[in-house]
Amino acid sequence: MKNIAVIGAGTMGNGIAHTFAQSGFKVQLIDISKASLQKGMDTITNNLDRMVAKEKINNAQKNDTLNNITTHTDISKGVKDVDLVVEAATENSELKLKIFKQLDEVCSKDTILATNTSSISITQIAAATSRPKQVIGMHFMNPVPIMKLVEIIRGYTTSDEVTKTIMDLSKTLGKEPVEVNDYPGFVANRILMPMLNESIETLYNGVAGVTEIDTVMKLGMAHPMGPLQLADFIGLDVCLSILNVMYDGFKNPKYAPCPLLVNMVRAGKLGVKSGEGFYDYSESRKAENVSQQFL
Ligand SMILES: NC(=O)c1ccc[n+]([C@@H]2O[C@H](COP(=O)([O-])OP(=O)(O)OC[C@H]3O[C@@H](n4cnc5c(N)ncnc54)[C@H](O)[C@@H]3O)[C@@H](O)[C@H]2O)c1
Repeated sequence: MKNIAVIGAGTMGNGIAHTFAQSGFKVQLIDISKASLQKGMDTITNNLDRMVAKEKINNAQKNDTLNNITTHTDISKGVKDVDLVVEAATENSELKLKIFKQLDEVCSKDTILATNTSSISITQIAAATSRPKQVIGMHFMNPVPIMKLVEIIRGYTTSDEVTKTIMDLSKTLGKEPVEVNDYPGFVANRILMPMLNESIETLYNGVAGVTEIDTVMKLGMAHPMGPLQLADFIGLDVCLSILNVMYDGFKNPKYAPCPLLVNMVRAGKLGVKSGEGFYDYSESRKAENVSQQFL
């Protein structure tokens, strides 16, 4: 594999593009929004600059990485001649089914179609295509360039061969792939999201404030980041959507999203990406509230 397309240049898409490009792959980064593409490329450049400053890479490696990425707003142009597509567009099942139908029509018949979805059924996405054996979940963690895990999700119909190819590919990126089966939330979010939701419920019930809840989990449980700050980093809209998928999928009230989370998303308070969530990420407060541990 040499040529990869990444769909979506948001939080995850730009990290996935960065990671493939830094490992020498030619990357076509595609987004419907020109502004998102620009923001994604700015983020990649800033993250590479930080890696150069920390002497993790040199300037030539930074330039090679950037030169490996081409941006597009037209899916059909971007995915021509790629071996693999990794879809990382907004977490919305209707949107993903539409994107996969289109990918199935425009990609070559050998192209493997992967999705970075946090929770939507791989089996359902695969069924929207005429190549269900070649559809797989490739769930990277945020921030992609430094997080080791890739959760590889086999849909009901994913072939052994495609699973092996994607497991091996993840290793060439310097990642640790873990194979799991396709049930709502897979493994990572099935365990993580109820914890984040419970921390929001704890705040909603007035048991403690934001920093107190995060401090308990950081100092008491040795978590590198408190759950409310982590929810802000993931995006509160993404958390809500994952909880809803698990709530619908298992029909179990333990996954019901906290009303405070629902209200914050309705109010457009989505965390770091919108400038405010449980913490304030406006320009004047950003340095204080954005952890500098990344990159
Ligand atoms: N945020 C996280 O921590 C995290 C972690 C793991 C997986 N994920 C998953 O990754 C995916 C992307 O999440 P994100 O947090 O990067 O979202 P995001 O909102 O930051 O970015 C989504 C991007 O998709 C673009 N987009 C929307 N429709 C599109 C289309 N039709 N074609 C091309 N681009 C389109 C948007 O313009 C936006 O730039 C979701 O499936 C999410 O569940 C997110």
